[in-house]
Amino acid sequence: MSGFRGRVAVVTGAGSGIGRALGLALARRGARLALSDVDEDGLAETGRAAGELGAETFRQRVDVTDRAAVIDFAEVVADRFGAVNQIYNNAGIALGRPIVESSFEDYDRVLAVNLWGVIHGTKAFLPHLIASGDGHVVNISSLNGFMAMGELSHYCTSKYAVRGFTETLRIEMRAARHPVKVTCVHPGGVRTAIADRAIDQELANGRIISAAQEAQRRRQAAFALRMSPDVAAATILTGVGRNRGRVLVGRDAKLVDAAVRFFPGGYTRALGTAGRLSGRSGSAA
Ligand SMILES: NC(=O)c1ccc[n+]([C@@H]2O[C@H](COP(=O)([O-])OP(=O)(O)OC[C@H]3O[C@@H](n4cnc5c(N)ncnc54)[C@H](O)[C@@H]3O)[C@@H](O)[C@H]2O)c1
Repeated sequence: MSGFRGRVAVVTGAGSGIGRALGLALARRGARLALSDVDEDGLAETGRAAGELGAETFRQRVDVTDRAAVIDFAEVVADRFGAVNQIYNNAGIALGRPIVESSFEDYDRVLAVNLWGVIHGTKAFLPHLIASGDGHVVNISSLNGFMAMGELSHYCTSKYAVRGFTETLRIEMRAARHPVKVTCVHPGGVRTAIADRAIDQELANGRIISAAQEAQRRRQAAFALRMSPDVAAATILTGVGRNRGRVLVGRDAKLVDAAVRFFPGGYTRALGTAGRLSGRSGSAA
């Protein structure tokens, strides 16, 4: 079992949702925490709650798309704690929009956070994790890291790529006998702010024209994202503790994993037909 007590754990996107729940679950298990997010208020709230649980907590505003800032953060954390053991590359955003309506900038934005953020965090912290003699990289993908859905091309592309990057890292760490474990996490729907933030972004851009469309999207998100972040975080840490290469979070993720294995080509046809019947270009979560 990998341990948590006394280990220095870094969490990106710690100001909300799964990142906050991970921070607090790690605090309960006795980890020393370095928390980051772009949302300083959310980050302060997580830091306060982790402090109340008795955890030594350091927090810094870091935008994971900013390579220099992430590298600087890694140095600051290593200096402050003397070692770094675990990084949870969790920060992420979503966007629901068909490919024909998407701009190149839409892809830039989502890939910058969801893919480059993970690459930045992994690369910046890896030398410190190796030096610790007991490192662990935990990258948060999604069930959309093995199943595509209509209107989520930006998100799916980023999450499939996170899986490829993370599984490659696991092979390389093992081949080179580096003391770094690697886990790729695939959550199903978790009750967080991610979908509402994506809808808010669409509203800010004037993309969702009717109140009915907005209400329908929020209803769909509430239906699909059900698991509590605390349960998700506990599942993730159990997998990390057991050094699982791949952690599926939630029954939906397990079901989708099985469905895609059995119908690797057929599922896209089924979702396309469902999208046509519902009048949307796919069945986005
Ligand atoms: N909620 C789900 O159903 C679900 C399912 C599968 C995967 N995930 C993944 O879990 C991770 C956490 O998402 P969540 O659901 O908790 O969402 P959330 O919106 O509640 O939290 C995401 C956090 O990331 C932060 N963030 C966004 N852009 C950032 C940036 N550039 N730099 C630093 N921080 C940034 C946000 O401020 C926020 O605090 C994401 O990678 C997401 O893709 C979520």
